[in-house]
Amino acid sequence: MKILAIETSCDETAISILEKKDGSFKILSHVINSQIDLHQEYGGVFPSLAKREHGKNLVPALIEALKKADLYKQKEKGEIPENIIDSLDRNPELQESFKEMETVSRPEIDFLAVTKGPGLEPALWSGISFAEALKNLWEIPLIPINHMEGHIASVLLEKADINFPALALLVSGGHTELVLAREWGKYEILGRTLDDAVGEAFDKTARLLGLPYPGGPEISKLAEMHRKKEAESNYFKLPRPMLHSGNLSFSFSGLKTAVRYALEKEEITPEIQEKMAREFEDSVVEVLISKTLQALDKHPAKTLILGGGVSANKYLREEMGKALNDIDYIVPEQRLSTDNATMIALAAFLHTKDASNSSITAKGNLRIDS
Ligand code: KG4
Ligand code: ZN
Repeated sequence: MKILAIETSCDETAISILEKKDGSFKILSHVINSQIDLHQEYGGVFPSLAKREHGKNLVPALIEALKKADLYKQKEKGEIPENIIDSLDRNPELQESFKEMETVSRPEIDFLAVTKGPGLEPALWSGISFAEALKNLWEIPLIPINHMEGHIASVLLEKADINFPALALLVSGGHTELVLAREWGKYEILGRTLDDAVGEAFDKTARLLGLPYPGGPEISKLAEMHRKKEAESNYFKLPRPMLHSGNLSFSFSGLKTAVRYALEKEEITPEIQEKMAREFEDSVVEVLISKTLQALDKHPAKTLILGGGVSANKYLREEMGKALNDIDYIVPEQRLSTDNATMIALAAFLHTKDASNSSITAKGNLRIDS
């Protein structure tokens, strides 16, 4: 069975094609067209700009994905039904480039899948409109997917049969949540952030340090350099927010404010950048691990899954592994931690019965337990 998945919830235009054979998954193509350079100028992601870029990038990304998977065949030019072209009129860039599909043969694919939320709604709509146009053009069923479930499913390439119940710590630019999965599709949110997401805190701290967007990888690099030089972080002292709150909620906006105050008295030198990156990462990782252990205490699980963009963080991955006992610990390979369409395809294999003919609506705040 082959699934082609489309992911446009934020600033990556991503298309992957996966095949499932004898119970295991194979990536046939994994295309990511990042808009990071563009958004770097603004220090963050601009929804309307993201939508326009997705509109320009989707058709080229699809053709690249089909070619890599050896599923690309040209055909004699045929008309695209007018109602399909009309359905794209809210995204002029996409509508224009979709005309290229006139010469692309229907590929041997069983299902299409697309992220329906959570994310930036204008960005989500680009992927959804495109997926629906392909569904109608090729008559291939389409499966709507929750982006956060995609982050959980990203570990299926590491281990295809998860031992449930599984606890997932999902940490990304928009989310920080502890999710208990009793089985695939049955989720309970045990705790989440009351304000900023942890990835957002990385990005904002990086900005205060004069580092480029996205800040996570930059902070991580500097923190590691500092850790190699010094055993302790003792120049800055940041709080460990909500560590002893007695519940499983998180809060990171106060941490960002603490960073800002601490830096007010400083000149931002490479040395200060390293020291702050180290202390910030120490604080965040300590809180994330402590809350995960508290959650496991209350809700014993057989598996811990670490997912979302911040799970690319080397220190978090390693320290979490050291803190856990007697439990399967699964983290996606780093390129599947940050947003991609392979994770959306993996989740879609779990939901083939959700393919339907009804139209999909983008849901910016879609919850994993809804
Ligand atoms: O999952 P993701 O790609 O997009 C969302 O769904 O939000 O997560 C992006 C976030 C960004 O905030 C980025 O700074 C963070 O993940 N990130 C990292 C690292 N790589 C990406 N944070 C810490 N360490 C990293 N190595
Ligand atoms: Zn994500």
